[in-house]
Amino acid sequence: MNLSSIIEQVKPVVLEAGAFIKKEAGQVQHEQIEHKTLNNLVSYVDKTAEEMLVKGLRKIIPEAVFITEEETVIQEKGDWKWVVDPLDGTTNFLHGIPLFSVSIALMYQEEVQCGWVYDIMHDDLYTAYKNGGAFVNNIPIKVSSQNDFGQALLVTGFPYGHPDKMKKYVDVFYELMMNTRGVRRLGSAAIDLVYVACGKLDAFYEYGLSPWDVAGGSIILKEAGGYVSDFKGEENYIFGKEIIATNDKIQKNLMKIIEDKFL
Ligand code: IPD
Ligand code: CA
Ligand code: CA
Repeated sequence: MNLSSIIEQVKPVVLEAGAFIKKEAGQVQHEQIEHKTLNNLVSYVDKTAEEMLVKGLRKIIPEAVFITEEETVIQEKGDWKWVVDPLDGTTNFLHGIPLFSVSIALMYQEEVQCGWVYDIMHDDLYTAYKNGGAFVNNIPIKVSSQNDFGQALLVTGFPYGHPDKMKKYVDVFYELMMNTRGVRRLGSAAIDLVYVACGKLDAFYEYGLSPWDVAGGSIILKEAGGYVSDFKGEENYIFGKEIIATNDKIQKNLMKIIEDKFL
């Protein structure tokens, strides 16, 4: 598979879905919003964008199967798979907060080969393929060089689907508030990852995410020189619901706090 060519072929498909999402911003009526689970919202925008993406991606690699958040396509087994979050940051989107994205990964067996994250309202398309470097709008990006944990700016998201974990999660948060420059909560895990990849932020961690939230952004971060693992420092961060993603230099500091307070 020529990964560099796949990156280029997918770009117009992502941009088209992004343009549709942008056009619908501010148009969704209250009664068009469904609650999948507690605080987990969806509308016709997520579903239509997913259908557009599936249709476009299918033409590029006909044999590839899909894992998609909105399940507009049946999951099948196959070596090549697309992992698709048509709209990451749905709550922001529905509240008129201009930070949401399209997130796509292409995996071969268990390994991510390519990633695309489109920060729609900034019109920034982040891409990477294995061993090919990371880019935003075709310009190379790299992680920050911050090695002083006390000066690091972090980002996270809250595991509202896991109330049993919330107390310990807040303990981690408290420790970080006391020992770093601060912790942001932006509302799109894919954007969190690419903001670490391009050095705006120094580290990201979150519990309870799904493969479509992290697969695309994680390869972009790795190709930008970052480090990504699960909470134990192991590799199960795509399907394992735990992710620590940093500029590499502060990985150990963050992992130690999560180990002490959360695990
Ligand atoms: C959500 C975002 C958010 C994270 C949530 C995810 P969605 O994805 O990535 O930052 O904290 O856990 O579910 O539902 O907007 O695609
Ligand atoms: Ca998501
Ligand atoms: Ca989503």
